[in-house]
Amino acid sequence: MSKSVDAAPAALDRVLVTSRDFAEYRAMFALDDTTLDTARILDCPGGAGDFGFRVRERGGRAVSVDPIYALEPAALTLRVQEELDRGVRRAHAVPHLYDFSWTGGLAQYVRRRERAAQRFLVDYALDRENYLDAALPDLPFPDGAFDLALVPNLLFVYAGLFDPAWHRRAVAELVRVAREVRIHPVTDADGRPYPHLPALRADLAAAGIGTSLVEADYRLHPGTQRTLVCRAAGRWRR
Ligand SMILES: C[S@@+](CC[C@H](N)C(=O)[O-])C[C@H]1O[C@@H](n2cnc3c(N)ncnc32)[C@H](O)[C@@H]1O
Repeated sequence: MSKSVDAAPAALDRVLVTSRDFAEYRAMFALDDTTLDTARILDCPGGAGDFGFRVRERGGRAVSVDPIYALEPAALTLRVQEELDRGVRRAHAVPHLYDFSWTGGLAQYVRRRERAAQRFLVDYALDRENYLDAALPDLPFPDGAFDLALVPNLLFVYAGLFDPAWHRRAVAELVRVAREVRIHPVTDADGRPYPHLPALRADLAAAGIGTSLVEADYRLHPGTQRTLVCRAAGRWRR
């Protein structure tokens, strides 16, 4: 039986398009200035966030990937607004899953997301070169195209939509195109630890991909402050 929206008002049964901002990325992925200014960075999924734009604005190199980049700017603008509203409805429905204290409350946080989305949409309308319509687990890049791949709020968050085999393929693909991959968070949308993480890490280790968990100073969702770092064993050092 399919779930009706009324039966599960808080469920994220399809992937939400969100617009976290540059400062949130810095916190989720512990990004320092040197990395931001010198690394070739893949943002996957980029969603409607302003990270790629802000990196390029400061002279760095970032490319964003997301299947929503198939949309023309006008259609994407409408979609992003609908998704902002959907995110706000969810925050009202399940307030225990959110901590807005660090940003001054829900209203302030929504304004932050709106501002990030506006920056993204202006950049997207001006120059689509850095926004690629593609989807995990297949990326249109050669091996080692990036120094760092950032994977915010897709893998593990939607544990119910993507099965363990998909997650393994997606991580292997990210490690193929980037020397280092950082995935945040390692919990699902309800803040529960991703149950297949130990098995995934064992599978990746067997395939020569080393992983470690690092603390992240980002607390939008209580209990989610860890980031998974992955590197192919042969690439632990430059
Ligand atoms: C929760 S948003 C994250 C956006 C942004 N990085 C952030 O943290 O706010 C998840 C994004 O994943 C995208 N997405 C869905 N399926 C995907 C796939 N198979 N590969 C890459 N991106 C995907 C969605 O379009 C959506 O924009």
